[in-house]
Amino acid sequence: MSETSPKLRAELDGIPTYKPGKPAAADGPVAFKLSSNENPYPPLPGVMETAIAAARNFNRYPDMACSGLMNELSERFGVPATHLATGTGSVGVAQSLIQSTSGPGDEVIYAWRSFEAYPIITQISGATSVQVPLTAGEVHDLDAMADAITERTRLIFVCNPNNPTGTVVRRAELERFLDRVPSDVLVVLDEAYREFIRDAEVPDGLEIYRDRPNVAVLRTFSKAYGLAGLRVGFAVAHEPVAAALRKTAVPFGVSQLAQDAAVASLRAEDELLGRVGSLVCERTRVHEGLVGQGWTVPETQANFVWLRLGEHTLDFAAACEKAGVVVRPFAGEGVRVTIGEAEANDVFLHTAEAFRKIVTG
Ligand SMILES: Cc1ncc(COP(=O)(O)O)c(C=O)c1O
Repeated sequence: MSETSPKLRAELDGIPTYKPGKPAAADGPVAFKLSSNENPYPPLPGVMETAIAAARNFNRYPDMACSGLMNELSERFGVPATHLATGTGSVGVAQSLIQSTSGPGDEVIYAWRSFEAYPIITQISGATSVQVPLTAGEVHDLDAMADAITERTRLIFVCNPNNPTGTVVRRAELERFLDRVPSDVLVVLDEAYREFIRDAEVPDGLEIYRDRPNVAVLRTFSKAYGLAGLRVGFAVAHEPVAAALRKTAVPFGVSQLAQDAAVASLRAEDELLGRVGSLVCERTRVHEGLVGQGWTVPETQANFVWLRLGEHTLDFAAACEKAGVVVRPFAGEGVRVTIGEAEANDVFLHTAEAFRKIVTG
């Protein structure tokens, strides 16, 4: 027997590993998970019952075309079903977007820091990441991103609002940027947190994509809709792109449970979005609380806040954990804290206040 191991693609060497938000400790004092930008509310009763009913048939494969969900999305968002593609979370669809456009020798541009899956899925495809630093105000530097375009560029992510900073790009600057992007380069507006936006100057990607065949919009049921554990997201894109996404998606990737729960969530949208409204109120309270304590916190339009803590990042995360809230540290950079239930936000605010007093003396 030969000792050689199977040949693996060299592109996979040194791939960054995705760090999931840490779960809340089961045996801690009070344990709140504010590390993954999840919705803190349990599923709505109607959605739960639908999911339970779908679970009775999990000896069967799901509807591979996700027809029920596609029809519902088509109606809800006023887009043709041929412009839709679903996947195992929007990260699954993002991977299909890269696989459909980019391979070895090609370049994928995105802001940095941004969603940590971008470098991973880019590297898996064999393409090269071009990371463009955020501005000093933690916002996408769209001019620098446009300047970074070369003839090898195939795809550009614009994460709006940006994970982990919560910052947004507004209509005029986004339109100006899109005017500079060659029509054969795909721009993906990643709107995972769209439902939390209250700034009227932030455009809805679905308005933008209609007149621009090289724009795709990425959405998810994981955040506002509260279905993170079921893994379902979708893209809206013009036909050739959407068709490529359907070709490259993992067959039967979206379970029937996820499909049916997503449809039920869209039908319970008023109630769900009412909960989002409460989270937005909490976001304002947390943001104002932190600013009142003296922190510099970028204005956020997502369900999280960002504290640039530099060398204090890990100590701050440890202090939060000790107090009973788990946050998401990015060592040496900062901490992202999801807006959760009021009680969790209170624990976080108290911890931030105490920490600030220690650090600033
Ligand atoms: C900006 C952004 N895009 C996409 C995703 C992927 O979410 P999901 O795969 O659960 O739809 C996330 C999750 O954190 C995110 O922050």
